[in-house]
Amino acid sequence: MGNILHIISSARGDASNSILLGNRIVERLQQRNPDKEVVVNNVAGQSWQWLHKELVDAYRTPSAALTSEQQALLEASDTTIAQMQEADIIVIGVPLYNFNLPAPLKAWVDHIVRPGKTVNYQDGGFVGQLTGKKVYLAIASNGIYSEGPMRPYDFAEPYLRYVLGFVGITDITTYRIEGAGLSATKETAVEKGLTSVEAI
Ligand SMILES: Cc1cc2nc3c(=O)[nH]c(=O)nc-3n(C[C@H](O)[C@H](O)[C@H](O)COP(=O)(O)O)c2cc1C
Repeated sequence: MGNILHIISSARGDASNSILLGNRIVERLQQRNPDKEVVVNNVAGQSWQWLHKELVDAYRTPSAALTSEQQALLEASDTTIAQMQEADIIVIGVPLYNFNLPAPLKAWVDHIVRPGKTVNYQDGGFVGQLTGKKVYLAIASNGIYSEGPMRPYDFAEPYLRYVLGFVGITDITTYRIEGAGLSATKETAVEKGLTSVEAI
């Protein structure tokens, strides 16, 4: 039986709506799966390496040929991937920053997409290896993106759906706390988002 993995990426701590929503999703999942362990990874609290040359070279080096320096460089990626492999449900908190992912969440993505480990090249195509998992996205934004004129400008959700699909995760459901910065919706946005999770 796999864990529930909760990825947190907000810089807003206790004021965070994506953490609030993600926690509510985790609570619902725990009610249905009381025996599952919950593992929390706060990616905003880590100093990630960017995809610099040495790291990219290490990603592309067969494991038997890795130097000890390369092995050390790959530690964060190995740990992050192991967390994904050990989970069968993953809740990802996604604060919308400048219409996209916060940088630490993008760095987390850059540490789980690994050729030969989470995605293989086979018969002329890519085959994701993290199959059989369910993902819930908990997206928080001041504007409204699930419908209306801003809908095309949430680049976080389509990107995450695509890149998670690339590593084999296609069963993805989105919940949102949105409109928290708009005068017409700010009073109801949080409650509406939290209530929507009861559908789980
Ligand atoms: C740096 C920054 C950029 C933001 N960019 C957007 C944006 O592009 N669209 C939007 O609707 N809200 C934007 N917001 C508002 C956040 O999406 C909102 O505060 C949301 O609740 C963030 O999630 P969190 O509460 O989990 O941190 C931005 C906030 C910050 C701090």
